[in-house]
Amino acid sequence: MLALFTMAKEKSVYSCQSCGYQSPKWMGKCPDCQGWNTLVEEKKLEILETRTFHEESLSPIPITKLSTQETFRTSTKIKEFDRVLGGGLVEGALVLVGGDPGIGKSTLILQALDAVAKQNIPVLYISGEESLDQTKLRAERLHAGSDSLYLLSETLLEKSIQEIKKLKPKVLAIDSVQTLYTSELDSAPGSIGQVREVVARLLYLAKREKITTFVIGHVTKEGAIAGPRVLEHMVDTVLYFEGDGGKSYRILRAVKNRFGSTNEIGVFEMSERGLEGVENPSELFLSERPLNAPGSVVVASVEGTRPMLVELQALVTPTTLALPRRTTMGVDHNRVSLLVAVLEKRADLALYNHDIYVNVVGGLKMQEPGVDVGIVVSVASSFLNKALDPQSLFLGEVGLTGEIRAINHIEIRAKEAARLGFKHCYLPKSNLKKLKSKIPIEFLGVSTVDELIRLIF
Ligand code: TYD
Ligand code: MG
Repeated sequence: MLALFTMAKEKSVYSCQSCGYQSPKWMGKCPDCQGWNTLVEEKKLEILETRTFHEESLSPIPITKLSTQETFRTSTKIKEFDRVLGGGLVEGALVLVGGDPGIGKSTLILQALDAVAKQNIPVLYISGEESLDQTKLRAERLHAGSDSLYLLSETLLEKSIQEIKKLKPKVLAIDSVQTLYTSELDSAPGSIGQVREVVARLLYLAKREKITTFVIGHVTKEGAIAGPRVLEHMVDTVLYFEGDGGKSYRILRAVKNRFGSTNEIGVFEMSERGLEGVENPSELFLSERPLNAPGSVVVASVEGTRPMLVELQALVTPTTLALPRRTTMGVDHNRVSLLVAVLEKRADLALYNHDIYVNVVGGLKMQEPGVDVGIVVSVASSFLNKALDPQSLFLGEVGLTGEIRAINHIEIRAKEAARLGFKHCYLPKSNLKKLKSKIPIEFLGVSTVDELIRLIF
């Protein structure tokens, strides 16, 4: 209550433009994110606290009195997109889509909206970034066009809301949240206060009018959607587009999802007709793999329910530096340092006077410990200058004493490898004992790094 009273009295608030921290007085340094000169004065709106989403839920109801309805989902007809959303669009859900400029956010949303419109569902795409002509041109490239797909070029929130209420679309897209602004605040479009207020109002609208709403957001230099903490708390789903600048494929990842799993990813390839789903990403990621090259190894990671085979490369070269270089891309730097130390101590490889580079091919990020054995093997392979059998897969987590520890989802990883013609799978001995299914691949259980290195080289 106290907070509400004080808020009502104050006219303005200072918000940090990089993390959303708020203070009643100006400060040179944000105490939350430590940024300098990031606090900007913004007018405080008090209506936020009085908003409710549903008229009926005014008093508490016993949970047993509530009827459950199966959430109805509308398909976007893009299998990979549906998968990330948890099975399609949910009525009234607010989905935030973030990613670097040019990665394909507008393309994907327009494609999805068009597919929905083709099912005779009215949809509205509001662009504050591009003119109607530009959007139309893009739509033509994508072969999109349906009588139920409406376009609007607008940056004023109040005007947009008026049009939304008039048209009553079932699905709405805002491209982008940083270009929309409300006339009730005098701060610039894209500032924390504006972004927060715009999303709050859209959320209110989405819930009350039951409109599935996509909000496209630009990312900051650090890779987060501007106003990250505030926005991520408010919305139902947060999706991020990742990808390697030069490459044509993109990965859509759910960071938060109230209507599905957050582990699922969607893999797309950008073509001249827009984004196309890639159903078998392993083939794509292994397509350029050099065979019989030292340092190259194949590992399998599991994203949600889907296994993905990925090539990992290491390059180990003698150094003249006092402090040898350890460069990693796609895997954790500290993890690699730790594994190199394990190799030195437990497998007697003299790596201390060598530079080591480790890279996940294709710009993918692999965070799970199941790739430890792959890293160890690729570093050893490059160091010894001995290539690995290209039909072998390496799985397992490595501990500090050099033991190889069990990982989960062994069977789906091995199945994917067998499907792609792999013949051997090195895995933790403890996993081997529990393995039941018949997969046409030879399983070789190992219990220490030392044993593994001696076995394969
Ligand atoms: P876009 O969706 O505009 O990215 P964002 O909204 O995230 O900024 O995607 C732009 C890029 O995609 C641009 O470089 C052109 C490319 N592109 C294609 O290769 N094929 C296509 O059919 C379309 C529409 C875009
Ligand atoms: Mg765009």
